[in-house]
Amino acid sequence: MTTINTDNANSKVFIETYGCQMNFNDSEVVASILTAHGYLIVSDIEEADVILVNTCSIRENAETRVWGRLDVFRQLKKKKPSLLVGVLGCMAERLKDKLLEDEKLVDIVVGPDAYRELPILLRSAEEGQKGINVLLSREETYSDISPVRLDKNGVSAFVSIMRGCNNMCTYCVVPYVRGAERSRNPETIVREVQELIDSGYKEVTLLGQNVDSYNWVDGTGERVSFADLLEMVAKLDSRLRVRFSTSHPKDLSDEVLFTMAMYENICNHIHLPVQSGSTRVLELMNRGYTQEYYKNRIEAIRRILPGSSISTDIIAGFCTETEVDHDQTLSLMKWVGYDFAFMFKYSERPNTKAARKMQDDVPEDVKTRRLTEIIELQGKLSEVSKRNDVGKVFEVLVEGVSKKSVDHLYGRTSQNKVVVFPREYSKIGDYVNVEVKDSTSATLLGVIV
Ligand code: SAH
Ligand code: SF4
Ligand code: F3S
Repeated sequence: MTTINTDNANSKVFIETYGCQMNFNDSEVVASILTAHGYLIVSDIEEADVILVNTCSIRENAETRVWGRLDVFRQLKKKKPSLLVGVLGCMAERLKDKLLEDEKLVDIVVGPDAYRELPILLRSAEEGQKGINVLLSREETYSDISPVRLDKNGVSAFVSIMRGCNNMCTYCVVPYVRGAERSRNPETIVREVQELIDSGYKEVTLLGQNVDSYNWVDGTGERVSFADLLEMVAKLDSRLRVRFSTSHPKDLSDEVLFTMAMYENICNHIHLPVQSGSTRVLELMNRGYTQEYYKNRIEAIRRILPGSSISTDIIAGFCTETEVDHDQTLSLMKWVGYDFAFMFKYSERPNTKAARKMQDDVPEDVKTRRLTEIIELQGKLSEVSKRNDVGKVFEVLVEGVSKKSVDHLYGRTSQNKVVVFPREYSKIGDYVNVEVKDSTSATLLGVIV
């Protein structure tokens, strides 16, 4: 048997990441695979022998940004002809060998389920052979790989609990670029979280496109649901904060809410993307719930987890959206009173069901105006949400030094709101009780009590 020696003690790799938290976590898996083969991860792009860009396809502008970066890398390649550039992630999966058409731009293309092949592809690229692997897998969860933490605050870390998505929302590219949904073996999740606790981490965020459909069946037929998994992780250490994202309104169960209520260390925050307030539009989006059902889930959160914050994602100007639909989105936002939100203009993605079967018929200026209205309303709602916190005391996990002043630290409340406060004797990684005194547009301001 011949084996290719993929060890590479001298190569320096720079990794740049776009997109969601799962993509950031994937970059940490990539870093782990490469360091095991002798590569060195560097934070200065000028030093790099290899640049890997882990990409996102969710909206057109996400891809435009990456094309802009590839142009910058082309200039670097001119200065240093041995420099290799690799495109990873969702855009690699979507565009495949199209990314290799311009010979001087990209050397390797690797999809989200093929990162174990990276050392071999890089070795071939060093020898002048361009490489591509964009096979999607039904099994790959990288469960045995301990990610190398790239964002080194040492306090909070992401842990992927599943990959892919089966939901087929008509606007969304994720099922095509990430493949079918699969859950990761819970034992390996618990092991990874325990390793994080042992190295001093204080917070984990469990990640999946739809965590509520986490489902693991072990050899004996025993099933582990998301609520079970949450409990397993929360029980490891009562001082470890546990967060998760993303919940799907159609699948968020009361059982999960009760588990959250039972464990103090599971944070009181739910990200529940609504996308639209109009049942008609939700149906066209294939979201699997109505406005009424979404409200029922909000009521369940309010009932079972009274102090919880709620955030959301909203798309403005989906196919056929009328002013009436748009008004329903605005009134639903007011009804819920979201604490924060991510808001987007609909961006048609090639080959999705919406692109194939529907007209992207809301004019650009109308989309822009509706998005502006949504953003302005959310600005007011966020302000109300922050103002309601003034006078209250929250336990805050200290995450870093304030950008504006070294005498101030910042951290987050269980509700995921950022608080800035004078440091006194506290340090990064501590839990402190902070009384909120005031708020700015972005953060709460407080003092340690
Ligand atoms: N799995 C998560 C979200 C993943 S993508 C969920 O189902 O909620 C993050 C957000 O990007 C989505 O919630 C949606 O609001 C937005 N998004 C996805 N596709 C989009 C598109 N084609 N145009 C605009 N926004 C989109
Ligand atoms: Fe996309 Fe819908 Fe899956 Fe979220 S649930 S990733 S929006 S298909
Ligand atoms: Fe983007 Fe892929 Fe995440 S498309 S949002 S990086 S799953």
